[in-house]
Parts: sequence; C-alpha cells; structure tokens
Amino acid sequence: MKGHNHYLYPLKCYYMTKPIEGFSKLTKEEKLDWITTNYTDDPEAVKKVLKRYWNPDRSVQRLHDEFIENTLTNYYLPYGIAPNFLINGRLYAIPMAIEESSVVAAASKAAKFWLNRGGFKSSVSSTEKIGQVHFIYRGNPKKLESFFKEIKPKLHSDAEPLTKNMQRRGGGITGIELRKKTDALANYYQLHCTFETVDAMGANFINSCLEQFATTLTEGAKKFSDFSSEEKNLEVVMSILSNYVPNCLVRAEVNCPIEQLNGGDAISSEVFAHKMVQAVKIANASPHRAVTHNKGIMNGVDAVVLATGNDFRAVEAGVHAYAAKDGKYTSLTHAKIEDGNFKFWIELPLAIGTIGGLTSLHPLAKLSLDILGNPSAEKLMQIIAVAGLAQNFAAVRSLVTTGIQEGHMKMHLLNILNQLGATRAEKNTLIEHFKKNVATHSAVVGAFEKLRKG
Ligand code: MEV
Repeated sequence: MKGHNHYLYPLKCYYMTKPIEGFSKLTKEEKLDWITTNYTDDPEAVKKVLKRYWNPDRSVQRLHDEFIENTLTNYYLPYGIAPNFLINGRLYAIPMAIEESSVVAAASKAAKFWLNRGGFKSSVSSTEKIGQVHFIYRGNPKKLESFFKEIKPKLHSDAEPLTKNMQRRGGGITGIELRKKTDALANYYQLHCTFETVDAMGANFINSCLEQFATTLTEGAKKFSDFSSEEKNLEVVMSILSNYVPNCLVRAEVNCPIEQLNGGDAISSEVFAHKMVQAVKIANASPHRAVTHNKGIMNGVDAVVLATGNDFRAVEAGVHAYAAKDGKYTSLTHAKIEDGNFKFWIELPLAIGTIGGLTSLHPLAKLSLDILGNPSAEKLMQIIAVAGLAQNFAAVRSLVTTGIQEGHMKMHLLNILNQLGATRAEKNTLIEHFKKNVATHSAVVGAFEKLRKG
C-alpha cells in the first residue's frame, strides 16, 4: 500500500471468486473477512478503512446496520446548511446532503439574492398519491365492469383494518377506478387507486392497501356468478404504488422588478432578465439542454430530500416523468417578463413525507426536520421546491453571465488540493492565489508543484 493516499486502494478484480451461499447470515466481521480476502489485495488495510467509518456510538451504528442488509460500514456524504431562505415570509436554514462542491454555496447565494427581493412564495396545489393493481382478464369487458361495480364496496371494506389509522389522520383511499388498458397490451386492466397519505410518503400504506385489493379482486372474481370459468381466473400480475404523481404538485416562485435584478457587473438587469428567459426557452426547445437544466434543479431537490430521510429515487423518477408529460422532455422551471417584472417559477411533483420511513429513525433526518421547524409534508414540499428553484436560478445566472466554471472551480479547488495531498498551509496559500487567478485543473496542479518546489 506504500505510496498511496490512504483513501485510495487499487482493488483487483477476482473473476475466479466462487459464489457464496448465505452471505447475509454471516456476522459483520465474517462479511468483512470474506469481501476483503476475495476482492482486495490487502484485507487488513481495507478492513481498517471500512472500520474507520463505523460510528463510535454502538447504538447509532446498530441503527445504520439495520437499515439495509449486509451493511459493512457507512458511506459519508457532506451535510451542509444553506441559510437565509425566506419562504412565504418565514426564514429557513435548509439542510442539504450532497457531495457536489458548488451546490450548497449556490443555494446560499440564491437565497441571499432573493432575501432582499421579497423571498420565495410557494404553494401546494394537490397531494394525491397513486397505486395500481395490474391484472389480466380474458373475457367480456362489460361483465368485468359489472363485477367491478359489485366488488367496489368490498374493496373498501376489506381494506378498512389497514386504513383506520390513516383515516384518523385525515387520509385514506380517495378513489378506486377500473381502467381498461387493452389498447396498450392484450387483456390488460388496472385498478387505478388514489390515496391521501397526509404527512407520510405512504409507500407502505399504499402497497398494503393494493395487495388487499388484489386479494379481494381475485377471490371475488372466483365467486362472481356471471363470469365464465376463464373470466373467473382473472390474474393479478402485480400491485404497486406509482412514483408518477402528477397530482401531487408544488409550485415555488420568485419575482421582482427588472431593475432590481442584478446579474453582476458585466451585464445590465434588462439583458440579464432577457437571457434568463431565453435560457428557459432553450431548455424547452432542446431536450439535451432540458436534462442538464433539470439536473441542476435536482441538485437542490435531492439534497434536501436526502437530508430529510426521503426517497430521492422516487422523487427523481416522478419528476422526470412529469418533465416529459406532454410527450417531450422540457424544463421544470419557467420564466417570463411581464409589466416590467421578472418572474421565475417551478412546478414539480413531490411525493415525500415528514413522518414514517427514515424520517424519525435516521438521527440526521430527524435533525433536518427539527431545523426546518418540523414541517408538515406540504410545508416540506414547498421547501424542497424552493431549493430546486434557487439552485436553477443560481446555475442559470452563472451560465448566462460569468459561465459556470468560475464558481465551480473555486469550490472544486479544495477537492483537487486534497487529491494532490496538499497540507493545510499549502491549501491556504493556494486558495489565496486562486482568488486572483483562474482555477483550471492544470493551473492548480502547476501552482501546487511550484509551491512544493519552493
Ligand atoms: C451541475 O451540477 C448543474 C448544471 O449543469 C446545471 C445547469 O447547467 O443548469 C450547472
């Protein structure tokens, strides 16, 4: 291992390693032995690295061990705060978990920019969650409709033991529809079900209800006297929530008179406003640009979703489907100039929760929610939408003025210096140097080598 930065181990690929039975039943120490002996060159050194990330508090570590199967260690991400977000008249400091160097800085900058221009306004327009029972029915569609009419009350009543708690909190099943999808796939039908899950993301609640619907449906079909024997054999393929939630929508907005819209020294407010609008139009005209534009939005969205213990994959999948809802992938943000005002807004679906899941289990997720004043799910949707809008504003502002690299490289400088193994003193010297010089990768390496040589 000599000569290597202790974070970087060259790992060989052992194609000859045999498959293992019952890995999950091994103790953690045995798992570490197995993986390091079979897949690394230096088991003891690698074990040391993995153990360095164990939490010294055993109860915290046990909690993390039990989040997933086969936990070996913890994978750290920086957890930062973007302060000064004025949202609907209230000041928030937003926790963000993210590895990309410039994201928190950009969010903070956008927050400060809008702090003196009225802040962000955000509102939730709908909170509907969706789940479906997908089934195959080979028979007369009219008879299926009559069967559905008959079974519908039982679908609700059989699910009552599951919905009681949710109903007490103001949620529950809000609709069950039979949908004929035979144009898309032969004999394919759905129970398309909608839910209100209040402050929970609701995945477990929805999936439990759907599995109960599936049982009621298949058992009911067997007993439905109008069905032929083939029709009685209605076949449920699967029951699962949908992460596409176009009716679980939040909007966030900023606006100000154009003359207050300072785009920096090199550009007038009018030109800046115009370029911002053009940039959004370009994202709407070009899916290649829209994907990157929206990626910048998701830098902010995901970081808050993660910090609050929510499921960022669910949010990502739903948001991108929404961006393509009209048959073409477009921007999630919008901009216009109206009566001398610049208006910039976002609308996106967010199925998130502030109770259940990891939200109260993961100590840092819990802390994030505390810092945000223990918001309802709707409030958290508003905060997350604002984080996305702010991130997009900051990115596009840089893009249409200085270019993105100036800010990016400033933030990335420390990563390069860490890779080079710079000491604290060397870092301080070079940070000062690059306040006045353009930081490209080769410029940083050059300046570092020059400094080392004295
Ligand atoms: C980088 O993570 C995000 C940006 O590419 C977003 C954008 O181009 O709008 C800067």
